[in-house]
Amino acid sequence: MALFDLPDFDDHEQVVYCSDDASGLKAIIAVHSTKLGAAVGGCRMWDYASDEEALIDVLRLSKGMTYKNAMAGLKMGGGKSVIIGDAKTLKSEALFKAFGEALNGLNGRYFSAEDVNITTSDIAIANTVTPFVTGTEGKSGNPAPFTALGTFLGIKASVKHKFNRDDLTGLKVAVQGLGSVGYLLCEHLHNAGVELVITDINQSTLDNAANEFNAKVVGLDEIYDQDVDIYAPCALGATINDQTLPRIKASIIAGCANNQLAEQRHDQALLQRGILYAPDYVINAGGIINVSFENNYDMEKSRQKVSNIYDTLLDIYVKADIQNRPTGIIADEMAREIIKNGGK
Ligand SMILES: NC(=O)c1ccc[n+]([C@@H]2O[C@H](COP(=O)([O-])OP(=O)(O)OC[C@H]3O[C@@H](n4cnc5c(N)ncnc54)[C@H](O)[C@@H]3O)[C@@H](O)[C@H]2O)c1
Repeated sequence: MALFDLPDFDDHEQVVYCSDDASGLKAIIAVHSTKLGAAVGGCRMWDYASDEEALIDVLRLSKGMTYKNAMAGLKMGGGKSVIIGDAKTLKSEALFKAFGEALNGLNGRYFSAEDVNITTSDIAIANTVTPFVTGTEGKSGNPAPFTALGTFLGIKASVKHKFNRDDLTGLKVAVQGLGSVGYLLCEHLHNAGVELVITDINQSTLDNAANEFNAKVVGLDEIYDQDVDIYAPCALGATINDQTLPRIKASIIAGCANNQLAEQRHDQALLQRGILYAPDYVINAGGIINVSFENNYDMEKSRQKVSNIYDTLLDIYVKADIQNRPTGIIADEMAREIIKNGGK
């Protein structure tokens, strides 16, 4: 595989492969850009089908962090890491200490945090051997509640733009994935009077959510066929693709998952179908915004900054309408401009 020729490589500053035989650690750390500051982005643990799949995932996620941090007005660069393996069987104290040592190798060019299958306890173990982690308990803590809040506000901005209304009462939202963020998003939506349709691979989470939010449960694949106003992808990426796109009846796609579009061209396809797409790294920036307050934590300031996601999305939507171009491309252009101007 020619790494430098991969479309997802996209000029990464550094890609580091880490392994530790004793703990079974196999990880990839990708630093896309440190132009605005040290790279910051979470660590994902996943049982990838191949090392190549893990590499593509970390490269796409890492680049997304560069754009996310720039658009959120943070003086942070973009990076991400993945630990390859089954989180149910491979997690151990030794594994996260080895991961922490791997972070030490980058000497502060990259700070890691929670992402899929990585908890604050895992990060706390890494933190015993490295200072290069963030989102730690006792400081900014778990980013998920802030990601959920930002996503909820992003859904409100999307509804304002698409339907010209401020309240969500009676709207139908299909939520795919009820993990750390998706579950809390459901809580916000339920409290706002939304009718929820939900799916997840975890039956007990589904049962809890169905009870708590009076939600309709559908099968994993059925989620794309639902007659809803909004589809909120909150599991893994690439769920908007050639197979699912023709099935989606929602007028808005707005969820917290990273890398929702299988390919950039699906952004144009969404525009043609009249579906308003909330660019993933803009709507899901609440967690990283909260993490940016790590060393001087102030929850109220954090919530205020997270609420800017509403206006940022409206700004993107207006520009996209005027130019009749996809929202994702508009967001990318805005992010690149911010990076070019040193964060302004
Ligand atoms: N945690 C954060 O603060 C944060 C911030 C920004 C973006 N994100 C992104 O949001 C998404 C969710 O993150 P999370 O922290 O809630 O992760 P999580 O691991 O807590 O939750 C993911 C959920 O999706 C479910 N799931 C997995 N595959 C599924 C499938 N095929 N169909 C339906 N459900 C499925 C899992 O069972 C789990 O409940 C990820 O894409 C993540 O990268 C998270």
